[in-house]
Amino acid sequence: MQYLEEKLESKSADYARGLTSLQEELEAVNYYQQRYVTTANSELKEIVGHNRDEEIEHCCMLIEWLRRNMPGWDERLKTYLFTSAPLTEVEAGATGEGGGGSGAEGDLSIRAMR
Ligand SMILES: [Fe+2]
Repeated sequence: MQYLEEKLESKSADYARGLTSLQEELEAVNYYQQRYVTTANSELKEIVGHNRDEEIEHCCMLIEWLRRNMPGWDERLKTYLFTSAPLTEVEAGATGEGGGGSGAEGDLSIRAMR
């Protein structure tokens, strides 16, 4: 899919570059992970696993860039990351909508714990 970076104002063009880069890094993680589990040669498996982990690092760097720069990421990452409750319950807590329970459980989001 071709994007329209040249038609976007600079902030949105940077968002598009960051999002596209993240998409590409995630795709690389997926390829490397599949190769990792299907590679019989132990030396090659080690290299492919190393490469997968470096792509994960690249994903994390891009997500952090998005958090620092693109509206919408910071609040949501603070809500969902490093939680242990089921994610649908975290969402229900963050949005104030019932997650199928009685609603008496309250807000499970980090925001609610502050
Ligand atoms: Fe990468």
